Amino acid sequence: MGVCEQYKSAGQDQLFEHFESLEKNEQQTLLDNLEKVANRVSPEKLVSDCKKAIQLAEENSKAGSHIQPLPSSSYESIIDNPEAETRYFNKGVESLERSEVGVILLAGGQGTRLGSSAPKGCYDIGLPSGKSLFQIQAERIYRLQKLVGKNCKIPWYIMTSEPTRNATEQFFQENNYFGLNHGDITFFNQGTLPAFDLKGEKLLLGSPTSLVQSPDGNGGLYRAIKENNLVDDFNKRGIKHLYMYCVDNVLSLVADPTFIGYAIEHKFELATKAVRKRDAHESVGLIATKDKRPCVIEYSEISKELAEATDNQGLLKLRAANIVNHYYSVNLLERELDNWCDNMSYHIAKKKIPIYNNKTGEFEKPETPNGIKLEQFIFDVFPTIPMEKFGCLEVQRSKEFSPLKNGPGSANDNPETSRTAYLKLGTSWLRSAGAVIDDNILVEVSSATTYKGENLSQFKGYKFDKNNSYVE
Ligand code: UTP
Repeated sequence: MGVCEQYKSAGQDQLFEHFESLEKNEQQTLLDNLEKVANRVSPEKLVSDCKKAIQLAEENSKAGSHIQPLPSSSYESIIDNPEAETRYFNKGVESLERSEVGVILLAGGQGTRLGSSAPKGCYDIGLPSGKSLFQIQAERIYRLQKLVGKNCKIPWYIMTSEPTRNATEQFFQENNYFGLNHGDITFFNQGTLPAFDLKGEKLLLGSPTSLVQSPDGNGGLYRAIKENNLVDDFNKRGIKHLYMYCVDNVLSLVADPTFIGYAIEHKFELATKAVRKRDAHESVGLIATKDKRPCVIEYSEISKELAEATDNQGLLKLRAANIVNHYYSVNLLERELDNWCDNMSYHIAKKKIPIYNNKTGEFEKPETPNGIKLEQFIFDVFPTIPMEKFGCLEVQRSKEFSPLKNGPGSANDNPETSRTAYLKLGTSWLRSAGAVIDDNILVEVSSATTYKGENLSQFKGYKFDKNNSYVE
């Protein structure tokens, strides 16, 4: 079947309404572009995946499954638990000494809410040093390699997408890979998927010769690992453990030895970090169990009673807020990747999608959602993990999580909150090291100097005032 017929027999005749008005070379470009998409996923499958995603959304909204907190064997907190933290940290360091730890960064999102045209990782959150998120994260890797010593190498795998790839790579080149060894950094792309109209029936054009396409969601990670043969690379380098995190968390402890050690000690194959839910009605996804399997549930999926229920310590029963920060064993990926790629479902996201209208010949920029993007969710694989192989580590929000989602001046999770969280943490480390800092002063501490507060004894007794806001 020719490419035109493939789309037409999947009910997509609308894509060709302007075909006769195109120049010959444009007609060919449109067909080539459509063929590229069809080679990845057939139009028929796309349409049926979208239908299934709409059904799934309807089912989820009615879901009343048996949701419970994780069992204590799969849930531990390092808040106020320094012994466990140190033990896990030391265990993680042993593995880092053998260069068994790799880092995966999710940086394929388009950051639409933030509203910057550059990739999120390039964003300057207004620190005194002017450092970008990428630089801070690169410096954490640099510093941890030094801290561990013994020629520890921490390879960094950066997932980008068609919209973020070039700008990201260029930013790293221009900044000389932030002092890291270029050979230890791998960029790889996640896939993209076409978008549908709001009914989920018709594919949308982004130009006279191409479909609208967008990254296939953070769950596209698994297919991207598979298609880029990364497991071979992990094996070649002797990597056994993976730390996965999101680009937009300025506090992420990249390659965190404590988290790695936690997973190693308990022989977990997949683990996730969580922070404590702020209050019963904070709108975050929660790590829990559904029908006795690990899962992430949306806040909208649980009843008010369950959201407010407390345990015998007076803490919320369901309090493990999801921060999309995972541990994977390479063994697990070797075993399950194909299965995940074949079976993960899609979710719908209703978005404002700029389109080309081939009836009027106009480009349209809608004010309200006009279409559906299909996305996979990274946590949809959780239920495939047996409970005894799944762990969740509760960490302190102020030390590990401050996401950058929204633009300057918005209510929360914006450049100001990210900057303040980063500065407050650095300032608290300096105080613990014996520096004297006025109450109203916040100091930036370079991530190349300290990983999590160590190596700052030179500031003992040092007085900080408003003229010194950054220390190397
Ligand atoms: P978000 O889901 O917050 O999306 O991503 P986003 O693209 O950053 O922002 P919005 O929703 O368009 O405003 C959380 C993390 O997942 C990554 C992002 O780069 C970020 O690190 N992500 C998201 C991907 O890598 N690929 C995707 O397709 C989606």
